[in-house]
Amino acid sequence: MKALTVSSLLSLVAAHGIVKQVILNDQTHTGPYPNYGDDSEIKSKGPIRQVTNTKPIKDIYSPNLSCGRDSVPSEYSAPVAAGTDVEFIWNGGEDGIPWPHSTGPIITYMGNCNGDCKNVDPTTIDFFKISEDDKRPDGMWEQATLKNFNTVKATVPWDIASGNYMIRHEIIALHEANMVGGCEFYPSCINVQVQGGGDAYPSDTVKFPGGYNEQDPGIYLPNMYDSQQGITDYQQPGPALYAAS
Ligand SMILES: *[C@@H]1O[C@H](CO)[C@@H](O)[C@H](O)[C@H]1NC(C)=O
Repeated sequence: MKALTVSSLLSLVAAHGIVKQVILNDQTHTGPYPNYGDDSEIKSKGPIRQVTNTKPIKDIYSPNLSCGRDSVPSEYSAPVAAGTDVEFIWNGGEDGIPWPHSTGPIITYMGNCNGDCKNVDPTTIDFFKISEDDKRPDGMWEQATLKNFNTVKATVPWDIASGNYMIRHEIIALHEANMVGGCEFYPSCINVQVQGGGDAYPSDTVKFPGGYNEQDPGIYLPNMYDSQQGITDYQQPGPALYAAS
């Protein structure tokens, strides 16, 4: 392991994270990375909407809940075949630093952009849910495996209509969810062009903000530290999972 610099130690303390890369049709797409306030140029041309930094969204009613902090459109939209897996690669905001948190779900949505996704305000998109990772039988959350640089996958439903979609992939960190407003959201949006799909238009959808409320059972867990078991029977926020028919 390379020696840790002062700045990487500082980011360990800050303990945030971001989707660094996404794999679609076996192609790895990188970034763009957060601009940290310098919006004079977008430093890479990936399909991920650029955000200003790697901190969580705490205000559940902020427009930032849609696609991250002050997100700006990506010009690029990456092709993906219907019915295939999308793979998300997270890190702690810097290469070599893993995702830091271990409690809470990982959820993925898709929404039709009805045109090029770079022209769409993400708060207006109707998102349906394509994946939700819960606790595993051994009691560990999938999220915790990202600390070992594991990756996350979701499947593009095989039956959705071909066209331009925004994927909204999100980690919810629950370590402070025993307080109202304590939940941390890390959403990331990716422009894709779905090819070879069917004729389905999923209708159980939500918008962000709007899809979640402060006191939803999966967002506010007042008793989460009361027992040795921690969170049991976790109730996922948002709509039901879309099942390809
Ligand atoms: C969105 O995030 C940015 C960057 O952190 C922040 O400056 C802004 O106030 C946020 N907007 C809202 C409406 O919360």
